Amino acid sequence: MIDLIKKLPKAELHLHIEGSLEPELMFRLAKKNKIDIPYNDIEDVRKAYDFSNLQTFLDIYYAGAKVLVTKDDFYDLTWEYILKCVEENIVHTEIFFDPQTHTERGVPFTAVITGIKEALADAKEKYGITSCVIMCFLRHLSQEDAFVTLEEAMPFKEDIIGVGLDSSELGNPPSKFKEVFKKAKEAGFKLVAHAGEEADYSYIYEALDLLNIDRIDHGVQSINSPELMTRLKNEQMPLTVCPNSNIELRVFDTYKDHNIKELLDYGLNISVNSDDPAYFKGYVNQNFINLCENLPITEDDIVTLVKNSFRASFIDDELKEKYLAQVDLALQ
Ligand code: ADE
Ligand code: ZN
Repeated sequence: MIDLIKKLPKAELHLHIEGSLEPELMFRLAKKNKIDIPYNDIEDVRKAYDFSNLQTFLDIYYAGAKVLVTKDDFYDLTWEYILKCVEENIVHTEIFFDPQTHTERGVPFTAVITGIKEALADAKEKYGITSCVIMCFLRHLSQEDAFVTLEEAMPFKEDIIGVGLDSSELGNPPSKFKEVFKKAKEAGFKLVAHAGEEADYSYIYEALDLLNIDRIDHGVQSINSPELMTRLKNEQMPLTVCPNSNIELRVFDTYKDHNIKELLDYGLNISVNSDDPAYFKGYVNQNFINLCENLPITEDDIVTLVKNSFRASFIDDELKEKYLAQVDLALQ
């Protein structure tokens, strides 16, 4: 099973680039940029990565992101993730970034997007890895702030395929961002949103009906509404599920309690993703392995999950077919 996971080419659709900041790079950038971090050594960092919910994680994640200052820092961050993609056999990736986390500190939007895009261009040239970039609005901030960020993104429209919604979910429902998502859609962006991660399934309905999203990030709370499950199945609305994240943030107590197998068996379009791999103990393959070790996941399930990662991606049909054929070839 582990061999199968490793050998299949995969796409990743839910990865916060700031969440791929490994402690080693955090220390190196903190020293270079003279930024204080509240850790003495790597051991200290690992100990701090013990979360009780989404917010306790976000507090540490935003503190870590402060070491990212220059365009080169964003290049290095993205390049290190690309090297993981090579190890993991991820051939296509759709990367989230949180511009407001950086622009709030005075880092120019241009530095962030340019560093990321240059690393992704090199990834294509050196390894053939294809990618898209999705800009997320921080939902704990206002819709007005999101409008400002959307404006800042306009000169980079060619570089950014879509907009998303992340950060503190509880108390910040999708409805808060209805107008800015409408404007983003009119501007031609694809739309995604974190919904039904910690908050109940009403947030998923809002994301579908008020934001008109193309894909749901997490969405695991949909299991509590039979009516929603039917709708998601009929529409084949993709859910980018992140098992390690859900365990680390206590959405489920253990891997054995995770509902991904039920969602998949019901016929939903589910993929497996790493969310914030530097914080949640592993990249995509480790997410698959943890599922296989704890749930009755079959080889057919793995193939379906992997194929869904391409089907739910924002690449064109021709490239999709090419990648799906590569999966079939790897299976032979
Ligand atoms: N930002 C980074 N990871 C996140 C998650 N799992 N949920 C919401 N916002 C995030
Ligand atoms: Zn996420």
